[in-house]
Amino acid sequence: MDYLMLIDRFYPIPGEVLSGLRFGEAGGVIMEEQAARQLGLMLSKARGDGVAIKALSGYRSPEYQEKLRREDTARRIAEGLSPEEAAAQTDRYLARPLCSEHNSGLAVDLCTPSADDTEDDFFLTPQAKWLCRNAHRFGFILRYPRMKEHITGIAYEPWHYRYVGTEAASLIHQSGLCLEEFLHFYADEFSFEGLRGRMTKNEP
Ligand code: DAL
Ligand code: ZN
Repeated sequence: MDYLMLIDRFYPIPGEVLSGLRFGEAGGVIMEEQAARQLGLMLSKARGDGVAIKALSGYRSPEYQEKLRREDTARRIAEGLSPEEAAAQTDRYLARPLCSEHNSGLAVDLCTPSADDTEDDFFLTPQAKWLCRNAHRFGFILRYPRMKEHITGIAYEPWHYRYVGTEAASLIHQSGLCLEEFLHFYADEFSFEGLRGRMTKNEP
């Protein structure tokens, strides 16, 4: 598995990746095998630090992704948006099928224990603050940061974490780059094949 694989509106998940996915479970959600192991370790460490974090959504099938998008657009229309405006807003928060990291099992939405949906003000909570400081140690990055929507195509999502492996996650965390920028800028600086090679190995 290439944990640095770019999945966004321009880069859908290749069919051979989908068919080769291996799954595990952590915190009540299904994730890609190694991402699940690391999520389990991260949630345990957070709990040990007195911060209970709930996993809301991990792996989603492309069909389920499309269902979520349809429901989201319908809700926005019911709230008064035109169909075009509603669809544009849905695109900012729910990626198209195969263009969602959730379809790869590498992404997880996290929230406070009492929440049953993603929380717009999640960034204010102890859970979000703990994640911002510690998620990279377990190989996860805040995938859709503030002010990067023009690059990622997705609005600020303080709840959405993507597994990329601990080495890349630490570099991304320190640099403040989003994944698209990291893959672009570090391609020249690094022996990138080497980094990718290391990323495919199991975490120590
Ligand atoms: N919420 C993110 C963008 C997704 O649907 O994958
Ligand atoms: Zn998400």
